[in-house]
Amino acid sequence: MAKGNRYSGAPPSSIGATSSKKHGAAFRGKRDAKKSRSAAGATKNTTAPGAPAPSLHRAKANGHSKPPAPVATPLRTPASGGVTKRMRAVTDGDALLDSFRQRLSGSTFRLLNEQLYTTPSAFANQLMRDRSSYDDYHQGYRQQVAMWPVNPVQIVIEALQHDKRGRFLENVAKHIPSPLPAGWVIADMGCGDASIATAMAKSAPHTKIWSFDFCATNENVTPCEMSHTPLEADTVDVVVFCLSLMSTNYVDYLKEAHRILKAGRLLKIVEVRSRMPSEQKFIDVVEAVGFKCDFWAVTKSYFTIFDFVKVDGTKPVLSSRQQKGRDAANTPHGNRVREEEIERRMKKWQSLPLEERLPHAPGSVLLPCIYKRR
Ligand SMILES: C[S@@+](CC[C@H](N)C(=O)[O-])C[C@H]1O[C@@H](n2cnc3c(N)ncnc32)[C@H](O)[C@@H]1O
Repeated sequence: MAKGNRYSGAPPSSIGATSSKKHGAAFRGKRDAKKSRSAAGATKNTTAPGAPAPSLHRAKANGHSKPPAPVATPLRTPASGGVTKRMRAVTDGDALLDSFRQRLSGSTFRLLNEQLYTTPSAFANQLMRDRSSYDDYHQGYRQQVAMWPVNPVQIVIEALQHDKRGRFLENVAKHIPSPLPAGWVIADMGCGDASIATAMAKSAPHTKIWSFDFCATNENVTPCEMSHTPLEADTVDVVVFCLSLMSTNYVDYLKEAHRILKAGRLLKIVEVRSRMPSEQKFIDVVEAVGFKCDFWAVTKSYFTIFDFVKVDGTKPVLSSRQQKGRDAANTPHGNRVREEEIERRMKKWQSLPLEERLPHAPGSVLLPCIYKRR
């Protein structure tokens, strides 16, 4: 290696030679070139193999203004010879490969996850109906779940199996029988490996569970893009979204839930708490689709659970926000709003297209859930 070279790995000698040829020797004739070579030997390594290319300044002085050819920069290797701490920690070959595969699979998961949260479902469908992408995503998701204090789908399963708070139905005084009434139909939207169907098959075999996701990983799953399920309108008793309101057009999923649910029946949503800057704004958006919030709570600090009831489309129904305004107006000191006037306004409001009725931009109400690299 040429003395005085800045790099620990010398660049190929041809780089130095080519540069001087282009910017000097080639234009000075053979004798000058010979002179220049011997002078170079006498001075410090400037044209020796491995020396950096002559500077632009010198090239200009030689009457040639072309910039010097780029010099390839060799990879800088650490003093340890490229052995990182992580590599040192893993001594045998298999463990090293495992460690790399894990990092690779973590990166794949984060990339797929980001795509799912930041694109419309048509794009996500292209990506995730490929079985290997789907498996990569779910492998990463399982690792993520293992770090949480509770698996969110377990919250839904327990609610369906044991919930007697009377939160399921519009009439909150009515306790839902446990087990669920015979013949009830549940749609698990974005079901993953269909854990709800597996759990309910044991505890409530008389219920029918539809499990929808991009790919079918077992016989319980019906593959589809869930804004277009293969179900008839008004046929389902409980629709579940457990961490599956992912795409930018998630309002389309809510519309589909509204289409398939029977009036007065339950929409159950569990979401990562940090996705919602304001629970009330999320409630406003879901209610605009045609639901009424019956209950919500934060659980285990990480997740927010919601129960909504599908409102009967034939009667005008006030959203929680509108109800609040109406209650305020009906105080002894407020202006009493006539019932007929409210009905008239509600009917007019409900006849508007959904996009005009949405009180907030959906993207500002439910933020993407991006996992950090660990
Ligand atoms: C975070 S995982 C949760 C899985 C499952 N609900 C659970 O809690 O174990 C979200 C799931 O929703 C699915 N999903 C998201 N958007 C979907 C869509 N438009 N159609 C079908 N499945 C979708 C994803 O493929 C993924 O399996």
